[in-house]
Amino acid sequence: MANSNENTDDVEMLDISSSMSKENDVPIQSKIPDAVPKSTLIKHTPWLEKYRPTKLNDIVGNEEAVSRLSHFAQQGNLPNIIISGPPGCGKTTSVLCLARQMLGDAFREAVLEMNASNDRGIDVVRTKIKMFAQSKVSLPKGRHKIIILDEADSMTEGAQQALRRTMELYSKTTRFALACNASDKIIEPIQSRCAMLRYSKLNDEQLLKRLVEITKFEQVSYTSEGLEAIIFTAQGDMRQAINNLQSTVFGFGHVNSENVFKVCDEPHPILIRDMIEKCIQSDLDEAYKAMNHLWRLGYTAEDILSVIMRVTKTYQMSEFMQLEFIREIGLTYMRVSQGVESQLQLSSLLARLCQRASSNSH
Ligand SMILES: Nc1ncnc2c1ncn2[C@@H]1O[C@H](COP(=O)(O)OP(=O)(O)OP(=O)(O)O)[C@@H](O)[C@H]1O
Ligand SMILES: [Mg+2]
Repeated sequence: MANSNENTDDVEMLDISSSMSKENDVPIQSKIPDAVPKSTLIKHTPWLEKYRPTKLNDIVGNEEAVSRLSHFAQQGNLPNIIISGPPGCGKTTSVLCLARQMLGDAFREAVLEMNASNDRGIDVVRTKIKMFAQSKVSLPKGRHKIIILDEADSMTEGAQQALRRTMELYSKTTRFALACNASDKIIEPIQSRCAMLRYSKLNDEQLLKRLVEITKFEQVSYTSEGLEAIIFTAQGDMRQAINNLQSTVFGFGHVNSENVFKVCDEPHPILIRDMIEKCIQSDLDEAYKAMNHLWRLGYTAEDILSVIMRVTKTYQMSEFMQLEFIREIGLTYMRVSQGVESQLQLSSLLARLCQRASSNSH
């Protein structure tokens, strides 16, 4: 936690340290100063922050990329890096762990973190980033100051252009770590100055392992279907998984699939499963009834389609039919995302799925 005599002017730096504990394996709540009633803080710390890994070793998944980062942390000579990947897979966490592991106690003085909540136009590159790069900080041999540009894909192009030269000019003392969702939004010259690390979504086992750890620690009452439901809704996003777990626990006190889908406000996959089954039996009337029921519950075409797609991908059926189904669902998804979000589109999808199923069975 922040030390009272340390510089508290810099909001970004405070953000980092408040989300991380120094000794690694210790959950963050045990580091809370005695003056603050612990129960209040623990209750109000989002689990996301409470269980944000503090060591590279604790980061789940993307082993290859993380092991490269660990290597950099040991060697010290960090190149400029870009970490890109989908939301909630641990990019920001990795960069913070790396910086902490590399710089140890010098972390506060030697790291500048900027994210999309800061103004990051060209002026910021010219002033704040340059000033930090020029500032003198005594570091162990072979270590560099680190400028973390989180959500770098939201930097303006002008700012990115201004960064090109800055990166080179101060390369003796300062290294850049960029994290972003879409690496194609980073201009080519910056990409060519950086080592690119690509993160991917986490798989179900990786999410499950982490969720089980948290449920044990929080003494959550859960069923295995409940955790499966969380994994189903999270779609490889650890942030969403942990958030949904906490919301369900706080909302219902017990994690089962019903509560999870209530909290996440998604159509229950069992209903969708039934609907697909009716399509496979070419029973359009029943399939339509199931869809109509979901529509009346207030789900949008996009909500319904997203679950239909995910359920179809794991449904046991002939491969040919599965591919045909996915194709039809994809085409409907496209129309809906172009703005034709009507019940008619869903009805037409069901009709086409029934047709595919019947022509396939002949
Ligand atoms: N690989 C992981 N291992 C363990 N926890 C993770 C992992 N990825 C995400 N988390 C959890 O999710 C939270 C958010 O992760 P993080 O901020 O690193 O995501 P991100 O990849 O930077 O996402 P975004 O692209 O939205 O910024 C963390 O606080 C942590 O609790
Ligand atoms: Mg992030």
